[in-house]
Amino acid sequence: MTQRIVVTGGAGYIGSHVCVELLASGRDVLIVDDFSNSHQQAVARIEELAQRGVECLKADLADAAQKNAIVNRIKTFGADGAVHLAGLKAVGESVAQPARYYQTNIGAALTLIEALGAANARSVVFSSSATVYGDLNDNPVTEEGRTGATNPYGRTKLFIEEILKDVARANDQWGVANLRYFNPVGAHASGRIGEDPNDTPNNLFPYIAQVAVGRRKKLSVFGNDYDTRDGTGVRDYIHVVDLARGHVAALDYLSDGERGAVDVNLGTGRGYSVLEAVAAFKRASNRDIPYDVVPRRDGDIAEIYANASKAKKLFGWSAKKDLDAMCADHWRWQRENPNGYNE
Ligand code: UFG
Repeated sequence: MTQRIVVTGGAGYIGSHVCVELLASGRDVLIVDDFSNSHQQAVARIEELAQRGVECLKADLADAAQKNAIVNRIKTFGADGAVHLAGLKAVGESVAQPARYYQTNIGAALTLIEALGAANARSVVFSSSATVYGDLNDNPVTEEGRTGATNPYGRTKLFIEEILKDVARANDQWGVANLRYFNPVGAHASGRIGEDPNDTPNNLFPYIAQVAVGRRKKLSVFGNDYDTRDGTGVRDYIHVVDLARGHVAALDYLSDGERGAVDVNLGTGRGYSVLEAVAAFKRASNRDIPYDVVPRRDGDIAEIYANASKAKKLFGWSAKKDLDAMCADHWRWQRENPNGYNE
């Protein structure tokens, strides 16, 4: 029988790619998104790429007044499971507005858990983050590494992982996959969906892409005095389509009847420095990417990359696309949609 999957935050950057891969795997999708940091246009493009329709509910999972309507819709949809991506995700903002971050991110997760319970659907794939590891582990980081997020945003990820584990402990019908993303970049190879940040990008790739396309003058490189090979920060960049395929693999794993909760890294296992990423993007775009080195950004760590072997072992999944593909696809999206979805 066709599986029916709720995708919260399904119109967002990662969510839109997850929807396309879920639809390609033959599943039906209900997007629940409040469109606070995503675009209606993304839903149309998901349908265009998948060549079929999705259901879509515009709603805020963290709003108590909307809870009953959301629970009922997920029940009526006949959900078999969910991919939970909805949430606030700006690190700096979370430091300034912690209560809002806890209320929104944890509230949304609790509403989803209630709705899945009501729908008798007990498989959840959760969008967690490598940020849960803080700066406490040697690289490459395994899932057994110590956790300890360094800001409220990261702590919401850690707390939701723990909540889902408690739910799975309390009732052995639940299956939970906490996916710890490393640094998702790139875009669908069609150039039709991609990352479209509301304001000034916080993250490296969208910033580089906006410099390359001429929307911003210069990149600021946050520090070149780290203990890394060229002094700039090292991260495990992963192509968003590989990441999206990881969600399908996780759902396949849960659909095979695996219950209980697992934490799984989604990364490539390779780290690249900021300057290596800039050089690769320059090659892919054939544009100049001027930059200044500025002081370190508060809260940044020198280096983190994944041990990605658990995803391979449990899900049979591994990342396929290299840094050049990430840059080429990110650039195609930016070049063909210089103002994102607001054409
Ligand atoms: N960087 C710059 N200039 C920029 C932006 C980033 O030099 O304008 C550097 C950072 O210092 C870091 C690297 O590029 O070395 C990557 O930075 P990103 O902001 O793209 O990614 P982070 O690793 O900081 O962020 C990721 C996730 C967040 C998560 C965070 C936790 O995107 O969701 O890890 O640290 F919270």
